[in-house]
Amino acid sequence: MRLLFRSRSKPQPSHSIRDYQRVVRKKLKAMPQERSLALAQAIGAETMENFVAQGDGQVAVLRHYGLSHGMAIYDLGCGCGRTAQALQRSGWQGDYTGADVVPELLQELQRQCPTYQAIINYKPTIVAPDSSLDMTFNWSVFTHLYPTESYLYIEDSFRALKPGGKLVFSFLELAEPAHDRIWNACVDRVRRGERAEQLDCFLHRDWIARFAKDAGFLPPVFTSGLDDSNHPEFWQALAMLEKPA
Ligand SMILES: C[S@@+](CC[C@H](N)C(=O)[O-])C[C@H]1O[C@@H](n2cnc3c(N)ncnc32)[C@H](O)[C@@H]1O
Repeated sequence: MRLLFRSRSKPQPSHSIRDYQRVVRKKLKAMPQERSLALAQAIGAETMENFVAQGDGQVAVLRHYGLSHGMAIYDLGCGCGRTAQALQRSGWQGDYTGADVVPELLQELQRQCPTYQAIINYKPTIVAPDSSLDMTFNWSVFTHLYPTESYLYIEDSFRALKPGGKLVFSFLELAEPAHDRIWNACVDRVRRGERAEQLDCFLHRDWIARFAKDAGFLPPVFTSGLDDSNHPEFWQALAMLEKPA
C-alpha cells in the first residue's frame, strides 16, 4: 500500500474559498443575462431592492460605530460590493479596500465602484500595513468560516488597525431566537445526510470575547442587531472590537 502525502508547501484552498467560488459560478451559469442579480443572490440578497436596502443598513451600522469622511476602511469578504455601492451612493469620501476570494465578485465591485480598491486574498490575513486602518468590517463572513479562521482574521485586524481603530462584524448566535431558523435548517440538513452548499457557523459571545482578549482588543460591544434605534434592523448579531488608543 502506498501512502500519499500532500506537500506542505502547497496549502489546499480553504473550504469556504472552494464553496463560494462554486456558488458564484453556478449562479452566473444559471442567470447569464442578469449578472448583477446573480451575484447579489450568490451573496444572499434575493432581489436588487434587498441588495440596496441591506447595503444602506450596513453603512448605517458603520456610521453608528464612527465611520466618517477621510477614513481608511477595509471590507473583508466584500463580495460584489453591497457595502461599497452603498458607501458610494451615500457620498462617503475616503480610502476603501475590499478583499474577497472570488474574482467574479471583485470584478463586479470594481465595475460598480471604479475608484475603490478591490483585491483578491486567499490567506486569513488583512492586506494592509501595520496600524494603517481606521476600521475593518465584515458582514456574513465569519458565519461561513471555522472559528479558528475567524480568529486569525481578528488577530490580523488588530495588527492592521490604528490605535483606537475598530473591527465591526456580524455573526450568528444560538442565544438569539431570530437565528433559530438557520440553526434548524442546518440540523435538518445534517439529519437528512445532505451536503450544504457552504458552512454555516455559529459563534458564542464568550468565544468572541476570548478572541478579542487574545488579539489585544478591548472587551467587545455586542448587540443582537435587532435594535433599530441607531440603524435599520440587522439580520445577524453585531460585535465591535476596539484597539486600545
Ligand atoms: C454572504 S457573502 C457576504 C458578502 C458581503 N460581506 C456583503 O455583506 O455583501 C460572504 C462573502 O465572504 C466571502 N468569503 C468566503 N470565504 C472567505 C474567506 N476565507 N476569506 C474572506 N472572504 C471569504 C465570499 O466570497 C462572499 O463574498
